[in-house]
Amino acid sequence: ESLGIVVVAAGRGERAGSPADGPKQYRRIGGAPVLCHTLATFRRFAPASPIVVVIHRDDTMLFEAALDALEHRRGIAHVFGGQTRQQSVLNGLDALAASDALRHVMIHDAVRPFIDAETLQRVGCALASGAPAVLPAVAVADTLKRGTADGLVEDTVSRTGLYAAQTPQSFDFAAILDAHHKAATAGRHDFTDDCAIAEWAGLPVRLVEGSPDNVKLTLAKDLAMADERLSRTAL
Ligand code: C5P
Repeated sequence: ESLGIVVVAAGRGERAGSPADGPKQYRRIGGAPVLCHTLATFRRFAPASPIVVVIHRDDTMLFEAALDALEHRRGIAHVFGGQTRQQSVLNGLDALAASDALRHVMIHDAVRPFIDAETLQRVGCALASGAPAVLPAVAVADTLKRGTADGLVEDTVSRTGLYAAQTPQSFDFAAILDAHHKAATAGRHDFTDDCAIAEWAGLPVRLVEGSPDNVKLTLAKDLAMADERLSRTAL
C-alpha cells in the first residue's frame, strides 16, 4: 500500500507581511522554518514514503537551508511550482508519477505546520477503507452571516452541515492524477483545493475529522502566534 506525499510550498505569501520577510513557509517558528515542522510530521508518520516538495524557483536556497535543519531528509525531492496552487499540485503529482508506482497520495499545504499524527491516522484509515478522496475538515463553529457590499448584514446562513476544509486532502493516486489532468485540459485553473477537483470529476469525497489546531498560517500575526505556541509547548 504505497503512499506518496506532495507538500505545496511555491506560494509567495504576500498576505503574511512585507516581502522583505520572505515567504511564510520559510519563516522560523519555534526555532525552525515552518516547512521543517510540516515535513518532520509527515516523515514520522510515513518514514518510507516519497515526499515531493513543490517550491518556487527563487526559493531554492531557502529550501536547501530548511532541509539542512531536518533530521531525516532521505526521500525528499523537490520540483518547481506554477502560477496557481492547482498548477503547483499538478507538478508535484507528475513528479511522483514519474518516479514511483503509488496507490495513494496526500496533498498538504506547507503553511499548515500543526498537522498532527491523529489527523493523519484518520485520513489514512479512510484511504485504506477504499475512499477515493478524503477531506479532513472541522465543523464551522461561528454563526455565519451574509453581508452586502455596503457593509450591512443581509441574513444569517445556517451552519448545519458546513465544514472548513483542511489538508492533507488525500486520494487514490491514479484517480486524482487523472482528475487534475482533465481539469487542466478543460481549461479549468481556478480550483482552490484538490477535493474541489475530485468533486468536479465526480469522485465521492469522504469527510473525516480534522483538527482545530491544523490552521493555515496566512497573516503575519499567525506566524507570531505559532511561534509563541511552540515556545510554550517546549517548556
Ligand atoms: O495561497 P494559498 O494560501 O492558498 O496557499 C496554500 C499553499 O499553496 C501554500 O503552502 C502555498 O505555498 C502553496 N502554493 C503553491 N503555488 C502557488 C500558490 C500557492 O505551491 N502558485
